Amino acid sequence: MKKNIFIAIEGIDGSGKSTQAKNIAKKLEGDGHKVYLTFEPTDMRIGKMIRSILGGKEKADEKVIAALFVADRLDHLLHETEGILKKIEEGYTVITDRYYFSSYAYHGAHIDMDWVIASNKMAANTLKPTVNIFVDVSPEVAMERINLNRDSVEIYETLDNLKAVQTQYLRAFDKLKEEEHIVAVNGDKTPEKVTEALWEVIQKEIKDF
Ligand code: TYD
Repeated sequence: MKKNIFIAIEGIDGSGKSTQAKNIAKKLEGDGHKVYLTFEPTDMRIGKMIRSILGGKEKADEKVIAALFVADRLDHLLHETEGILKKIEEGYTVITDRYYFSSYAYHGAHIDMDWVIASNKMAANTLKPTVNIFVDVSPEVAMERINLNRDSVEIYETLDNLKAVQTQYLRAFDKLKEEEHIVAVNGDKTPEKVTEALWEVIQKEIKDF
């Protein structure tokens, strides 16, 4: 059986990480891996609640949003049939488009990051990614992509917010550099070039696993 790793792809909105996650999934499948591509917020019960808040349909305090993400993430990990743990056990290579570093970056801009990290300890102690890949794009490039590609813009998607989230990502990576494996890839290049760079990282991870 192929070695199955757990990959978390991170980046600010407009970084192109969702496209990259799909490209990488295809490449892994082409290489004979069973792949489970997934994302946060999930499309399960708590994820749906979160999307309704992010879309502006309902209001909630930042602390409540951060706590909902904690619950959604645990559901994502522990769900009996669709959970990441189950998929890993079944031999899937799992790619998640966002994981707990998204929480540190997005909520760390509004509330104490150490609280967010502590609240996510249960997930981190249950399953750490083999590698957290940061698609590192400049906020200006990301904002351009968002304005070009979306019919609706979510509450977090302003240039100031993208810059703030980028800063918080870097702060979180620095805080957790001893206990997490983090690799940054330049996301300003063409999608093909970015996929190539990601593919190199992933092949190395599989080899070393
Ligand atoms: P995103 O990946 O942009 O999903 P979509 O492609 O469907 O828009 O994620 C949605 C938003 O959720 C994004 O702005 C980041 C935010 N988010 C958090 O605030 N905290 C978290 O823990 C996660 C996983 C995402």
